[in-house]
Amino acid sequence: MALKLQVAGVGKDYLIPVIDSVAFGVEAGEFVCVLGPNGCGKTTLLRIIGGLEPATRGEVLLDGKPVVAGDAHDRKVGVVFQEDRLLPWMTLAENVALVLKPLGLSPAERRAVARRQLALAGLAGFETYYPGRVSGGMRQRAAIARALAIEPDVLLMDEPFGALDAQNRRIMQNEVRRIWKETGRTILFVTHSIEEAVAIGTTLVMMSARPARIRELITNDGAIPRGELIERLNTMIMEEVERQQGGAPLG
Ligand SMILES: Nc1ncnc2c1ncn2[C@@H]1O[C@H](COP(=O)(O)OP(=O)(O)O)[C@@H](O)[C@H]1O
Ligand SMILES: [Mg+2]
Repeated sequence: MALKLQVAGVGKDYLIPVIDSVAFGVEAGEFVCVLGPNGCGKTTLLRIIGGLEPATRGEVLLDGKPVVAGDAHDRKVGVVFQEDRLLPWMTLAENVALVLKPLGLSPAERRAVARRQLALAGLAGFETYYPGRVSGGMRQRAAIARALAIEPDVLLMDEPFGALDAQNRRIMQNEVRRIWKETGRTILFVTHSIEEAVAIGTTLVMMSARPARIRELITNDGAIPRGELIERLNTMIMEEVERQQGGAPLG
């Protein structure tokens, strides 16, 4: 089977090299969690994969076609950020329907898709609520509904539950796992929480200290007992944090 997503020797320099060289492939339907110390380049990598930022080196292939930064044509990528980025003057349904406008659907079709996606995200009955009138967890549900509405080839999530309290965070981890099972989407999920990655990902990508490389790629299929896996990943991340603090104090 051809790879859904191929990250081929991707590197990025700002004033300093942020990503050295990262390469991995993602098959359709995989749920990949990208882990690494704060400031190691996770968001940068996600933005390059999503075509929001050009790479300095290497390339990203989505369904075999190169992702060109800024050229959204011919590519469907859904992104969920740590902040929900909903428009406060629009209802949840209007927020979701808005992203469907460029797809040429009629207003009635857009409303129907928005309704369906909100229901999938657990928000049936809240279509006409404004973002300011619902909880943070519900706003993130709406952001997920919006990202899925375009039927993306790949769903990118950058620490989407980082601003939620511990209880809501656990609820949303279960929810995103359920949504993934129901939709079969390919998901790339960035987090710095090892527990979160182990709880939801089918594949775990541990990045090194900046400039980032892949330190280890682990299939999370239950072969390694959960406790042991968490311990191993914790050791790795502590080593990388130390290595990064030994370098220039950036980020
Ligand atoms: N637009 C930018 N210009 C300059 N430096 C940047 C820019 N974006 C990120 N960086 C730097 O790149 C490094 C990695 O950032 P980021 O990808 O946000 O890390 P992470 O998401 O892993 O915490 C940091 O040192 C950060 O300061
Ligand atoms: Mg980040």
